[in-house]
Amino acid sequence: MKASSTIVRTIHPHTPEQETLANAAQRLRNGQLVAFPTETVYGLGANALNADAVAAIYAAKGRPAANPIIVHVADVEAAKQLTRFWPHEADLLAEHFWPGPLTIVLPRSSQVPDIVTAGGPTVGIRVPGHPVALGLLQTAQIPLAAPSANASGEISPTCAEHVLRSLNGKIDLILDAGPTQVGLESTVVDLTTKPIRILRPGQITKADLERVIGGSVEAASSPATELRSPGMLPRHYAPRTAAECVPSETFEKRLNQLLNDGRRVGCLIIESSNAAARCQLVKSLPNRPADYAAGLYAALHELDRFHLDRILIEMPPAGDAWAAIHDRLRRATA
Ligand code: TXA
Ligand code: MG
Repeated sequence: MKASSTIVRTIHPHTPEQETLANAAQRLRNGQLVAFPTETVYGLGANALNADAVAAIYAAKGRPAANPIIVHVADVEAAKQLTRFWPHEADLLAEHFWPGPLTIVLPRSSQVPDIVTAGGPTVGIRVPGHPVALGLLQTAQIPLAAPSANASGEISPTCAEHVLRSLNGKIDLILDAGPTQVGLESTVVDLTTKPIRILRPGQITKADLERVIGGSVEAASSPATELRSPGMLPRHYAPRTAAECVPSETFEKRLNQLLNDGRRVGCLIIESSNAAARCQLVKSLPNRPADYAAGLYAALHELDRFHLDRILIEMPPAGDAWAAIHDRLRRATA
């Protein structure tokens, strides 16, 4: 279902216009591809119960067939229909974090087409918190398969312009509600293992999850995670420009080295740091994890557009609250 021209329609981020939602919902019911904002990043939605529509997502993104897609639903009842088994932890997590940036992985029911789960026995599900995403789900009355709305392997889109640049002509409609708030993809947690395990860190941290389930949660760890969650390949979420993450203490030295070699360098530093004084092209991000995350992808998208030789990124602080950011920076620089 390849679209030849992509329509962009603005929609109010807090009180989405019902007519715009109805139009987008009808397109989705007809098997079209619609990009929409969630609180994390923009998603590329298709009717999750229509295998052909989901196949069109893989085609538009150039997504490897082995990588399963998250299904978005309007509420817990709709989530249960997609699963074969609903454990107590799922109730606890749903009650605390939904609608919100948490994806839970559970055994899938026969309702879910193979293509959504890449043939696997589990399905990732979330109820998004963005009013446009929720309104769209409520209006369309179907579950929506939706990966991030970018060509496979690239940085996720945090505004409609990022989506358009990556997928123009390949999708039918983009709902433009301005920049997303969280800025990093949802935390993905696998409830089919004991202890339950984080497959992808996000704004909701390991400590947040442990507090709510009252037990221990395994942190995201490379080899096991990468097998269970094929999207978690080392190089992913990456700008086209070679990027490098450097501790504050050695940043200036590394920058000078590159500049002295005649390299064209862009820097991404932490606000009020003066590590990049010699650099012509500098973006800075706030020294608070939530604000840093909200601006990270837009900053990388912007630096990427200069076709530089190198993007030099100042390493943010350590700690649980920065874990998702470190995870994405590791992938961006792998
Ligand atoms: O915040 C988000 O999660 C955004 C918005 C649009 O909801 N979506 C998103 O989707 O980031 P995507 O496809 O770009 O990343 C989904 C990740 C991939 O790493 C995929 O492998 C993993 O979740 N995933 C999806 N279903 C899974 C499953 N059944 N088991 C294990 N991992 C799964
Ligand atoms: Mg993605």
